[in-house]
Amino acid sequence: MGVFVDHKEQLFYLQTPTTTYVMKLTGGRYLTHVYWGKKLFHLNKKNAFLNRMLAFSAVEEGDGETYTRDFIRGEYPTGGGTDHRFSALGVTFPDGSWDCQLEYVGFEAIAGKEKVPGLPSLYVEEEAEAETLKIFLKDPLWNLQVTLYYTVFKEYDVIVRRARVSNGGDQPVFLNRFLSASLDFEQDHFDLLSFPGAWGRERHMEKAGLRSGITCFGSNRGASSHQMNPLLILEEKGGDEDHGAAYAMNLIYSGNFLAGTEVDQLHQTRFFMGMGDDNFSWKLAAGEELDSPEVVLAFSSEGLGSLSRTFHDLYRNHLVRGKYKKEARPILVNNWEATYFDFNEEKILAIADAARDLGIELFVLDDGWFGEREDDSTSLGDWFVNTKKLPSGIQGLAEKIHQRGLKFGLWFEPEMVSKVSKLYEIHPDWCIHVKNRKRTECRNQLILDLSREEVCDYITNKISGILDSAEIDYVKWDMNRHMTEIGSCGLSSDRQKELPHRYMLGLYKIMEAITQSHPDILFESCSGGGGRFDPGLLYYMPQAWTSDDTDGIERLKIQYGSSFAYPLSAMGSHVSAVPNHQTGRVTPLKLRMDVAMSGNYGFELDLSKQSEEDLAAMKESIALAKGLRSFLPFGDFYRLLSPYQGGDTAWQVVSKDGQRIFAAYFQVLSKPNPGICRLKLKGLDASAFYLDEENGEIYSGGELMELGLVVSLYGDYQSKTWLFRRKDDYEVSD
Ligand code: DGJ
Repeated sequence: MGVFVDHKEQLFYLQTPTTTYVMKLTGGRYLTHVYWGKKLFHLNKKNAFLNRMLAFSAVEEGDGETYTRDFIRGEYPTGGGTDHRFSALGVTFPDGSWDCQLEYVGFEAIAGKEKVPGLPSLYVEEEAEAETLKIFLKDPLWNLQVTLYYTVFKEYDVIVRRARVSNGGDQPVFLNRFLSASLDFEQDHFDLLSFPGAWGRERHMEKAGLRSGITCFGSNRGASSHQMNPLLILEEKGGDEDHGAAYAMNLIYSGNFLAGTEVDQLHQTRFFMGMGDDNFSWKLAAGEELDSPEVVLAFSSEGLGSLSRTFHDLYRNHLVRGKYKKEARPILVNNWEATYFDFNEEKILAIADAARDLGIELFVLDDGWFGEREDDSTSLGDWFVNTKKLPSGIQGLAEKIHQRGLKFGLWFEPEMVSKVSKLYEIHPDWCIHVKNRKRTECRNQLILDLSREEVCDYITNKISGILDSAEIDYVKWDMNRHMTEIGSCGLSSDRQKELPHRYMLGLYKIMEAITQSHPDILFESCSGGGGRFDPGLLYYMPQAWTSDDTDGIERLKIQYGSSFAYPLSAMGSHVSAVPNHQTGRVTPLKLRMDVAMSGNYGFELDLSKQSEEDLAAMKESIALAKGLRSFLPFGDFYRLLSPYQGGDTAWQVVSKDGQRIFAAYFQVLSKPNPGICRLKLKGLDASAFYLDEENGEIYSGGELMELGLVVSLYGDYQSKTWLFRRKDDYEVSD
């Protein structure tokens, strides 16, 4: 496993446990992509380099080879040259030209993995866990240097890619596209899975065959966004959860992104991902360098399920950090849907009392505790307590919550400012805006300009001060609008388009400072629900609020779609009231609880007003969830039945030691006179026995996987969960 270089044939091999990635130098100069897929131990040079002349494509010669770069498969294609397909790097040189010709200079292989300066990145704890190949390229005319980084994790079928551009010339150059990775497949027999959505409807998986030409996905909103997730999967035609080759790219970044495919004239497929280029330009002065975010390239020859499990393990072990990395998360109650802005200490304590009686462990005070905030029209930026609502302040309330045996959590939206606020009165220029243009509000708020150091310092100090002033165990970090009129009065005119990326660098700096100086606090990110549900934020905060849509039925599609890359340990999931506030739908409490307990379990309704019967059911479910949380968010996740194909949904988790199994079936609409419905489990030992913990029945693993469990549900919105324990001491009687 690791990096191997065949000097004679000029081939670079990256070997993971079951996959291989190969590159080659063509003409002794150009780095080309050869292969990514199931493990290969060796490649014949003739197989690695195919040569083809094309009408209307320029011919080049070098090192005894004649080739056209418009045909050969690129590894980091540049714009303005002889490859007419979609480029990964766009540069404008000092003379205005943009033909960028990157030639091979050399390579270096190192043990371990370097951090990406200023950006979230995967990490290793021991150098032996990974190896990194750096390939150095250069445009000799302008001395523009590009380093391509490839990290091979010893235990995972992933290649982590990124790029660094350094200006070795003596004049500035401008980058107008800077992707993290690009590579070409020889064919186009793929379906493309993308994860679009909207507020309240995030990450719905969409699948479509590839089409000729360029197909792009991305976000220009200043956030990774509800509208499109930075995850794309190419699935070999005919593949499914358990079969077929699947290739994915997932960007470790929370801002604008661009990803897509280009199927060329010969039905070859280019696959690329990186920062968005629409609202981007970067002036690289002489001697300066810029790093791209990392992109995770994952491959499975055994379908989408194993691809997802690779992502889950990788993120849980090498992206998420801190105390809660492997720790069971507290079951919480959040007052947002219970009270919205209309609360006082009495109401809050009544909910906390009811929560304690149910066995809930954390109370989270949401929006509305600061400034004059009675609705969403004021006070963002004024981070001082509203003593009309909370006379004993945050400190006093935190104490009272702790006295009740609960932990205390607090909501912030640190990146924002309301026009009606003391902060805006003092610093009207601290927000993102374009001089002499209207400052368009969204949810009555503007975005603070995090490309400015003084703004970042202010936020870091302000939020840290509050966290240090009271016993706060949990923080919900929200962000509720996207960028418009993108301009900064802290940047010169030739650097204005750097703002969206500089904003992300500022945000990451703030988050690093606050999370590292408060290691005992559990942080949950949120952006109007799942608007920044990406690996970038998971580096700082181990869980995220999956969606503002708490409807159990809607959550099936949202959580199922999210699971393609993100583990259950990342997903905040709450039981809320009916009729549901987002959809008006009325679903049984059991279904809402069964859906929510599959993620980081919480409640978001007025517990002080529930019926005795519902409270008893909640208490039982909470006790059950406490027994499951040591393995459920951290085990192997299997998608059994897709909500995108007919409605009914099922999923399953097998604990890492194979001893415990959780399975859930959700019936969306009932059917009259249905046939026998069975749920076939996965990932079990066919020759082992498993005890159904509810009714004491014993089943063989083979039986559970091949014949399945009978599902017999009556009515709309019904659910059933099972819990099995492996029984190694069971003996079949004659
Ligand atoms: C949007 C979040 O997603 C909600 O959960 C809630 O915190 C509101 N913001 C508060 O304004």
